[in-house]
Amino acid sequence: MKVLVVNGPNLNLLGSRQTEIYGKKSLADIIRSLRKAFPKVDFHFFQTNSEGEIIDQIHTAVDGDYAGIIINPGAYSHYSYAIRDALSAVSVPVIEVHLSNIHKREEFRQKSVISPACTGVVSGFGETSYVLAVQALMEAVQKK
Ligand code: DQA
Repeated sequence: MKVLVVNGPNLNLLGSRQTEIYGKKSLADIIRSLRKAFPKVDFHFFQTNSEGEIIDQIHTAVDGDYAGIIINPGAYSHYSYAIRDALSAVSVPVIEVHLSNIHKREEFRQKSVISPACTGVVSGFGETSYVLAVQALMEAVQKK
């Protein structure tokens, strides 16, 4: 199973950025844990700080052979209609993931404009959010 995992802006700073909110694990640590936990999944990990690059990456899944997408759009979650449109163009399951519980935070973070284009959302479990997202994606792919 080929899975695209997209991480958006500032997630390259995980491990040093606001560790009280996002934890002490770096993105490389999270990637290592996922590869270890799901050895049979063929992950393609992608991180960028640019909205356009996130959209281009999602487009590779339109006609590509990914079984599904896991995406943490970072702050773009709260205002990028362009990312939402790109995800709406994809027919495979999409799981939105957040390390923090966005509903428990500042008002502007409590709404994700991306969620309506996703199969489901995992938010608030730190790095475990990614593990849960992979499990949810595997189930969604099987049901499809
Ligand atoms: C985040 C939550 C967003 O509000 C924030 O801008 C991020 C990370 C999370 O994983 O909790 O960059 O997506």
